[in-house]
Amino acid sequence: MKSGLLAAAAVLALTAGAIADPVDDELVIDGQEMITRAKAPEGLPFDEVLSGWLYREAETRQLEEDSFENPGMLSVEEGEEIWNTVEGTAGKSCASCHDDAAETMAGVAAHYPKWDPDAKRPINIELQINKCREENMGAEPYAFDKGGQKQLTAYIKHQSLGDPVSVDLSQGDMQEWWDKGKTVYYTRTGQLNLSCASCHEQNNGNYIRADHLSQGQVNGFPTYRLKTGLTSLHNRFRGCVRDTRAEIPTAFSDDLMALETYVTWRGTGLSVETPSVRQ
Ligand code: HEC
Ligand code: HEC
Repeated sequence: MKSGLLAAAAVLALTAGAIADPVDDELVIDGQEMITRAKAPEGLPFDEVLSGWLYREAETRQLEEDSFENPGMLSVEEGEEIWNTVEGTAGKSCASCHDDAAETMAGVAAHYPKWDPDAKRPINIELQINKCREENMGAEPYAFDKGGQKQLTAYIKHQSLGDPVSVDLSQGDMQEWWDKGKTVYYTRTGQLNLSCASCHEQNNGNYIRADHLSQGQVNGFPTYRLKTGLTSLHNRFRGCVRDTRAEIPTAFSDDLMALETYVTWRGTGLSVETPSVRQ
């Protein structure tokens, strides 16, 4: 493990310059065209923001193009079952209040994280689910990645498939959280002294081991990883931080909510692809 990671850093250094372009291809899911390239928001050092789909191998890309082949769709179906299942002391399911998610949740997740005036911090879909479970259902909140958290999140995000991502930074203190997220993104940490930008900005397009480094966009989460199955965004963040050999922040901590706010903004205009397929 240790030597593997150090080797990864060495590979990163050695392959600098060996850039491979992301593919020039169109992602159409069940006949619906996805936006995989969008003009970068002002202040980003890229002209274009690019979906991670463009960096993957042909077989991986194809899996995402067809809902019947996309293994992540099984989790979306599980999420739908949870949506309709009564739980908690109030005797309600999500559907009791929100009816048909195809209508009530259409486009909703494309605008998360959002400002939560009660908690006075940004809220993501996972935390909104927990809020409704606690306050509206009399049910226990899900622990990180447990219960049906990933599946229900994937189901809700899937109702925004194709919708361009945009976060409203004018709500509450969202701008401050964006600033904090930006600081986290550019701060070099860990024994390898790497920041998110070291890999996803400076080495974007390079190979690290067998992985073609993308811009590290979040528009496809929860994503189906061929290695590990359905994977939540904070699990991915934690994995990337672990690779720098730094202390790993807790899921939904201030650092990771700030990072989610900032990195989501970095993908403004890309379609929600949940559940995307990645290596
Ligand atoms: C007793 C009624 C009730 C139940 C049951 C309930 N919710 Fe909610 N939910 C609300 C209310 C009220 C709001 C806040 C007002 C709104 O945005 O509609 C809300 C908001 C939401 C939102 C944010 C919508 C937006 O526009 O940002 C999501 C997502 C959500 N609920 C998901 C769920 C899920 C998933 C479940 C089941 C685990 C669930 N809710 C169960 C009442 C309920
Ligand atoms: C040592 C290099 C490295 C560092 C540092 C790193 N990552 Fe990653 N990250 C990767 C690799 C490799 C992948 C998988 C290939 C790809 O999509 O770039 C990845 C994937 C991702 C993805 C998934 C992209 C997709 O399309 O599914 C996100 C999101 C991400 N990283 C965010 C971050 C954030 C935020 C940070 C800083 C906390 C970070 N990464 C730091 C190497 C790194």
